[in-house]
Amino acid sequence: MNKKRILSGIQSTGNLTLGNYLGAIHNWIDLQEKYDCNYMIANLHTLTVRTNPDELRKNILNLIAIYIAAGLDPEKNNIFIQSQISAHSELAWILNCYTYMGELSRMTQFKDKSEKHADNINAGLFTYPVLMAADILLYQADLVPVGEDQRQHLEITRDIAERFNKLYGETFVVPEGYVSKAGAKIMGLQNPENKMSKSAENKNDVIFLNDSPDEIMRKFKKAVTDSDGIVKYDINRKPGISNLMTIYGTIKKMNKEDVEKEFQGIGYGKFKQAVAEVVIEELKPIQDRYKDIIKNPEYIQKICKNGKERAEIIANKTLYDVQKKIGLIL
Ligand code: TYM
Repeated sequence: MNKKRILSGIQSTGNLTLGNYLGAIHNWIDLQEKYDCNYMIANLHTLTVRTNPDELRKNILNLIAIYIAAGLDPEKNNIFIQSQISAHSELAWILNCYTYMGELSRMTQFKDKSEKHADNINAGLFTYPVLMAADILLYQADLVPVGEDQRQHLEITRDIAERFNKLYGETFVVPEGYVSKAGAKIMGLQNPENKMSKSAENKNDVIFLNDSPDEIMRKFKKAVTDSDGIVKYDINRKPGISNLMTIYGTIKKMNKEDVEKEFQGIGYGKFKQAVAEVVIEELKPIQDRYKDIIKNPEYIQKICKNGKERAEIIANKTLYDVQKKIGLIL
């Protein structure tokens, strides 16, 4: 009954990357026994980039199937679709009025995304962190497990919660980020200075969760390294090798020192092959389970329906409290 509550989510923008997996889902699996876990499909967030409606519908179901295939037990984790709980949009509007333009202008993701989508810098892209704050605060989440790139959005969520609590009395739990040391920032294989991202132009930069074993092997063999020939962690001088070590260590649950020891005196060719092999071994069972689950849309719909019912009770309670405090309910 007194378990701490967790809330997190992933955008339903299509194919997930190894970064999404190691930075988020992989850590969620370990949390399901200890915490009251709530994981949503962040489909409202995907509207900030133009999306084909049929693709979006398909991507939502695919993402639920991935959550389950990766090991999230729907009996132990509340899995739901963000847009099915109207309280998210309602609270986001209210919180917009308690968030400053200056704060939002400092968000690095907004700057990056508006550069990438210069023809569609919509207001949703700008206020995106407020919707994320609403997602988290509605559930009174204690912890938010995400990758490093979401840290700034968590900070603004905490600021909004504290501001609101100060004005109206204790309303929201002020959440803590839960950024795992391992895998929090997986970098591109071709550009190890940048995070691995599904929107990368060079597809060899990214491992997708549905890549075949051959594709995974090929991409790792092409991964950028350096001319040292020593498997040693040095993020500044050897970003490529350091990233491969992070991938290997996160999956094998080994620290950098142990990875260094294991590959002492072993060349890059063999090391890359070993990294590819552990990734293939990790993803293969997920891919197999995914193929089974996606064949059963009724099962997926049932999970969403149950998730919606459970999520709505918590979210509506918080929304009602907020509406009452600010004077919207007589
Ligand atoms: P999204 O969909 O961009 O990413 C989902 C999760 O994957 C992590 N991630 C990475 N981790 C390590 N290395 C990488 N290269 C990498 N790329 C992505 C992200 O940190 C994230 O944990 N705004 C969020 C979705 C969201 C959300 C929320 C999350 C909406 N509401 C409420 C938590 C709580 C997003 O766009 O994540």
